[in-house]
Amino acid sequence: MKDISRKSVAITTPNVVYHVYPRSFRDSSGDGIGDIPGIIEKLDYLADLGVDAIWFSPFFRSPQRDQGYDISDFCDIAPEHGTMADFDRLLKEMHARGMKMILDLVLCHTSIDHPWFRGSASSRDNPKRNWYIWRDGRKPGGRKPPNNWKAMTGGPAWLYFSNTDQWVYFHFMPSQIDLNYREPDVKRTMMDIMRFWLDKGVDGFRLDLLHALYEDEQLRDNPLSWRFLPSDKSTSALFRSHKYDLNMPETYAFAVELRRLIDEYEPKRLLIGEVFGTMDELRHYYGPDSTGLHMVFLFEFTSTPFRPQRYAKLICRVEKALPAPDLPTYVFGNHDRMRLMTRLNHHTGKAKIAATMQLTLRGVPFIYYGEEIGMPNSRIKLRESRDPVGRKYAWLPAFQIKTLGFSLSRDGCRTPMQWDDGSNAGFSSNPAAVPWLPVHPAHEDVNVAAQQADPNSLWNCYRRLIALRKECSALRVGAFDLIPVGKPSKKCLAYRRTHYESTVFVYLNFSGKELRLRCPVENPDLLFSTYEERNEMLTAPDGRLILAPFEGIVFAPRPEKPPKDLTTGNVPEVN
Ligand code: NOJ
Repeated sequence: MKDISRKSVAITTPNVVYHVYPRSFRDSSGDGIGDIPGIIEKLDYLADLGVDAIWFSPFFRSPQRDQGYDISDFCDIAPEHGTMADFDRLLKEMHARGMKMILDLVLCHTSIDHPWFRGSASSRDNPKRNWYIWRDGRKPGGRKPPNNWKAMTGGPAWLYFSNTDQWVYFHFMPSQIDLNYREPDVKRTMMDIMRFWLDKGVDGFRLDLLHALYEDEQLRDNPLSWRFLPSDKSTSALFRSHKYDLNMPETYAFAVELRRLIDEYEPKRLLIGEVFGTMDELRHYYGPDSTGLHMVFLFEFTSTPFRPQRYAKLICRVEKALPAPDLPTYVFGNHDRMRLMTRLNHHTGKAKIAATMQLTLRGVPFIYYGEEIGMPNSRIKLRESRDPVGRKYAWLPAFQIKTLGFSLSRDGCRTPMQWDDGSNAGFSSNPAAVPWLPVHPAHEDVNVAAQQADPNSLWNCYRRLIALRKECSALRVGAFDLIPVGKPSKKCLAYRRTHYESTVFVYLNFSGKELRLRCPVENPDLLFSTYEERNEMLTAPDGRLILAPFEGIVFAPRPEKPPKDLTTGNVPEVN
């Protein structure tokens, strides 16, 4: 592959981040639960894929009611995932391979079993009482929650404790109680926890539910909203807006404080926010003059239909709201969402188009484990769900669940990584182990080993794209411009990425029909095609470029040839 970057740039952000869900990646101990030594075994796989940063969903000590997002000790490793010595080795091995480590930091809440909460709940005058948000119930009799706030997963956002006759606030699930950031000791302690990991050398944090950190000081009732189902465009759902419990000005200010904290460290560290809201609300997390988070996840891609015009509209909106140097992060999949391959109806051609888009848009791409082989979602009955959100709705009749159009349990996208077609898909070192979630039956066909052996596989497509992105500064940091393609815009998305004098063009055919389009350059040089065997651009006799069905290509203007030495006909050597 040619190096087409004409200018070297100092880039502190990773080229590509891979998201590992530790429970499901690789089980080295043979107990059916993924662990840190298992991840270490697979680092060479990730290095070979071209990944240069990994975000780990939490592997800290936890009663695992929400698979590690309910933490009972922020500075210790859950025994089912390993030990602190394993963690130190993981970090060392990653850094030895030039990879950055991004930890999942759950600042918003603790487990209900955290000693801080146990103390806080034990009496009204416990020193930790104010670490959580306790209030009397509404009159008369205090039998009703203090206000009308709803939890993100539905139902009242308050839990009653009879021993102190007060209610405590939670935003997500009742087993995860929100910390009170208006209590200075809470803020100080959580920032010290960040320092603990930064001092160890971790390279950044993904901030869980950051937008829910502060609430209105007076805990005013939220206004009604017409929206019932949740969406990625706003936080309103279940007929409630979240005016007073999410995206508070204090949280925006805290994002800037967090940035100041990590900026004390060299080499530079990274902050990525999991925040929900309107584009306007999300914008605030970048801080005035980009002094806040480096990136926030943009979830709308996970619910956008596979149509070029819809993507074009969304990308333009993002480009306008988050111009450079701010970075967007388009989410294609994660541990809470239906898997990309299932959303695309198991169509490999479409998955290659999605991969090409993901790895050539502006911003930092995050690849969810298994996405590179097109792992599908599993169907797991709500009654058998390991996910607490799924269990919460297990009483709903099946026909009603279907009408929702989305999956209530998140287990389906969290099944064990499919390494090969053997027992347990190569997930566990112990062939007799019972994995914590059943392996998807498709593993016999859809697995890493099979796709590594096939040059035209989805895995090889991701690998070639990651390598191209690494080589090409225009793809990593270049400006983005949409290219109008006229009538075919219903079938084709085209854009240009430019960094100094390096320019590349991306053309994506979203249809099953061949397309012929005007070529934006005279002498195009093909750098990538989703059709692995393609070496040269396909052009029609009239000069138009040809895109085969579901073909995605990346090309650049062909560099001018150096002049020939007129006497010998040889190209002169450059010293
Ligand atoms: C968002 C995480 O992505 C999700 O998996 C988790 O259950 C909630 N935050 C609660 O921490």
